[in-house]
Amino acid sequence: VPSGDDAAQLLRFHAFLLHRSRVERYRVALAAAVRPGDVVLDLGAGAGILSLLACEAGAARVYAVEASPALELARELFAANGVAERVVAIAGRSTEIDLPERADVLVSDLFETLGVNDGIVASTIDARERLLKPGAAMLPRSIETLLTPVHLPRRHHDVVGVWRDGSHGFDLSALRSQAAALIHPVVIEPSDLLARPVSLGRVDLATTDSPGVSATIELTALRAAPCHGLGGWFAAELTDELVLSSDPRDATLAYSQAFMPLVEPLELAVADQLTVDVASDDGRAWSWHVEQRRGDRVIGVR
Ligand SMILES: C[S@@+](CC[C@H](N)C(=O)[O-])C[C@H]1O[C@@H](n2cnc3c(N)ncnc32)[C@H](O)[C@@H]1O
Repeated sequence: VPSGDDAAQLLRFHAFLLHRSRVERYRVALAAAVRPGDVVLDLGAGAGILSLLACEAGAARVYAVEASPALELARELFAANGVAERVVAIAGRSTEIDLPERADVLVSDLFETLGVNDGIVASTIDARERLLKPGAAMLPRSIETLLTPVHLPRRHHDVVGVWRDGSHGFDLSALRSQAAALIHPVVIEPSDLLARPVSLGRVDLATTDSPGVSATIELTALRAAPCHGLGGWFAAELTDELVLSSDPRDATLAYSQAFMPLVEPLELAVADQLTVDVASDDGRAWSWHVEQRRGDRVIGVR
């Protein structure tokens, strides 16, 4: 059983995940997807809440696979809730373990700030090929990532601006472009958004065959303000009606959003056009490139 700081951090994180609207959406979606006798794979089981919901929904057997020590928390909850006989807790990464049988239903919450930037697509493709029955139900079944330019002066200073020439009498600017090339989890407010968000596309987890992302989107500035980078979040479909979203304007999840900073801000005027190229080979490391146009002139490139 984890102890000390690690335990406190694990318990805090998994307590945070008990957020009511998230758990209730999974409860309704699992009740609809799980038929009596089904085998369920809980991929990244954490403290086990989705496995408990799968048992409640009538699963005959649940495989709770978890790479972190959180699995020990889950084992305690399975015993305390009388489902230890039905749930098989397996320590390890899903990509490195085998199951004695294939599952009818896959349930997971592996979302990172952009939805797809924590290996969820690669893990799901692997599970589809090795651990699930053909045509298995998937919760979530699709993930859409949305981006928009954002005005975040404080956060830009905190993550990028501090790396500058003259700071504490030194030239710290050598680290500036590295800091600006990383995705930073932040809380974005609706008032920080500078354009109507645009989708990078929807990833259908039942059919996608690559965790890579490559998209070009066009955004139109609705406000005149410095743009410090791109803000991003996701909407994941559990069923036709049930969506988990970290949209700052209407979140059903208490998750942070993504901040993809620019090395230097761009001064936006109303109606400026931004062409944004976004790419990732593996879903984890991302690059972004922004071109700003006013009328037919390019006036900024980052
Ligand atoms: C956001 S938590 C969700 C926990 C729990 N399923 C819930 O909904 O409350 C994601 C968990 O997935 C685990 N994880 C991520 N990818 C995994 C993989 N491929 N195999 C096993 N565990 C994984 C992480 O260690 C983390 O505990």
